[in-house]
Amino acid sequence: MPRDNPKALHDARMSTDPVAPRFHQAMEVLPLAPALRVLEVGCGHGIALGLVASRLRDGCVLGIDRSEKMVAQALRRNADAVLGGRVLARTGTLAEVDLGREAFDVAFAINVSLFADDANVELSRLRERLRPGGSLFLFHEAPVAAHAKRFATQASRNLEAHGFTVRVLPAAPSRACVVGQVPG
Ligand SMILES: C[S@@+](CC[C@H](N)C(=O)[O-])C[C@H]1O[C@@H](n2cnc3c(N)ncnc32)[C@H](O)[C@@H]1O
Repeated sequence: MPRDNPKALHDARMSTDPVAPRFHQAMEVLPLAPALRVLEVGCGHGIALGLVASRLRDGCVLGIDRSEKMVAQALRRNADAVLGGRVLARTGTLAEVDLGREAFDVAFAINVSLFADDANVELSRLRERLRPGGSLFLFHEAPVAAHAKRFATQASRNLEAHGFTVRVLPAAPSRACVVGQVPG
C-alpha cells in the first residue's frame, strides 16, 4: 500500500479488483449461511455485496453507502442478484438510511473509518438492528501496521461502549478485524 501518496492510497482502498485481499479476508471470516439477512455499511462499488450474495439462497444482503454514485455502481454490478432479490442497495448514511423493518443476522464494513471515530448514533443503530446473538464485523486495512492497530483499539472501545462483546481476530500487521457480538 503506498504510504506517502494520498491519491494512490485512496485508489488502493477503493480498488475494484474483485480479488483484492480485503474481500478474500472478509469472505473467509464472515459467518454466512443461505438464509441470513446481512447488512454491509459503506458498500462502495458493491464487490463484497456480490460475493456475499453468491453464498445466499433465501437470504439477502443490503448495502448502504452515503455516495449515490457508489450505490448506482453497486446496483449495476449486481444486477442479476438485485433482480433475484438477494441484493438491495440504498443511498444514505448509516445514521439516517432506511434499514427496513427486519433485524439483521450479520453486519459488516470494509475500510469504513467511521467506527474508530465518534460513531455513537451509528453504533446505537446497529446494536438495535442486529438480532440478539448477531455480529458486526469491521475489516480495516491501513498503510502501516500502527494505523491498523489504532483502528482495532478505538473501534473495540467504541463497540464495547455500545454493549457489544468484542473480539479482535488475528490478521496481517497492516490489517484489522474487529468483531462485535450482540449478547444473545
Ligand atoms: C474506502 S471506501 C470502501 C468501500 C468498500 N467497502 C470497499 O472496500 O471497496 C468507504 C465507503 O464508505 C462510505 N461511507 C463512509 N461513511 C459512511 C457512512 N457514515 N454511512 C454510509 N456510508 C459511508 C463511503 O461513501 C465509501 O464508499
